Amino acid sequence: MATLTVKRLWKEYGNQVVLENINLTVADHEFVTIVGASGSGKTTFLKMLLGIEQPSRGQLLIDDKPIAPEPDQQRGIVFQRYSLFPHLSVMDHVLLGLEFQGAPFVGRLFGTRRKQAVEKANEMLNSVGLYQARDKYPAQLSGGMQQRLSIAQSVICEPKILLLDEPFGALDPGITSDMHDLILNLWESRRMTIFMITHDVQESFKLGTRLLVFDKLRHDPQSPEAYGASITYDIPLRNGKKTQASAA
Ligand SMILES: Nc1ncnc2c1ncn2[C@@H]1O[C@H](COP(=O)(O)OP(=O)(O)OP(=O)(O)O)[C@@H](O)[C@H]1O
Ligand SMILES: [Mg+2]
Repeated sequence: MATLTVKRLWKEYGNQVVLENINLTVADHEFVTIVGASGSGKTTFLKMLLGIEQPSRGQLLIDDKPIAPEPDQQRGIVFQRYSLFPHLSVMDHVLLGLEFQGAPFVGRLFGTRRKQAVEKANEMLNSVGLYQARDKYPAQLSGGMQQRLSIAQSVICEPKILLLDEPFGALDPGITSDMHDLILNLWESRRMTIFMITHDVQESFKLGTRLLVFDKLRHDPQSPEAYGASITYDIPLRNGKKTQASAA
C-alpha cells in the first residue's frame, strides 16, 4: 500500500515561486502522467517526492505519514539521461542497489546472500530483456538498453513509488513502443505507483490512469517569478494495460 497525499504544497527558490498550492491524493497503483510547459516545476515536484528537494510549505504524506526527507528504498527514480557508471557491467549495476540495501556498511554481499542477490538480478535482467547483455558495459549498449538498465536498477529495489522523468524522451521514436510495453508490464506485475513526466501528450494518454497538467493560473508579465504553477487539470484516463487486456 502506498497512498500519496500532497497538501497545500509550495516550492520557492529565493524570490521565484515554482509551485503553488498543490493538492493531490494518489491511490495505490495509479499511473500518473504529468505534462506541462518547460519550467513549470515538474522535475522539482518529482524531486520532492524522491526526497532530494524539500517543500517550502505544505505536506507530503505516504500512507498518512510524512515522507522521509531523504531518498529511501520506498521510492526509485529514472531520469531522462542515463546515469550509468562506465566501468560497471550491466550485472554490476543491478547488483549495486541490492548491495547497498543488504550491506550498507560493507557495500558488498558475500556467500549465500550474494548468490540470492545474483539470482534476483538475473530475474530482473530477464524481465527487462537484458539477460544476454549482463556482462556488457554501458558504452556497448544502445540508448534503449541503457534506459532499460536504469529502470532495472531502480525496480530491483522494489520501490512502492517509481518516479520517471521523461525516461524515453531521448530515445529513438521507433523503440518507444517496446519501452511502453516494458513499463506497463513492470507496473502491473510489481504493483507500483508510477509518476511519469513526459512531453508527449499521446504517451501520457497511452500509459496513464490519470493525467496531471502543471500550469500557471496567474501570470504577471512585470514579475514572471511572482506566481508558480499549480495542477490546472487532473484528468482520469481509462488506459493502461488493464483496459487493453480487458478489451482483448
Ligand atoms: N536548485 C534550483 N535552484 C534554483 N532554481 C531552480 C532549481 N531547480 C529548479 N529551479 C527552477 O525552478 C523552475 C522549475 O524547474 P523544473 O526543472 O522543475 O521545471 P520542469 O517543469 O521540469 O521543466 P522541463 O520541462 O524543462 O524539464 C525553473 O525556473 C528552474 O530554473
Ligand atoms: Mg524537467
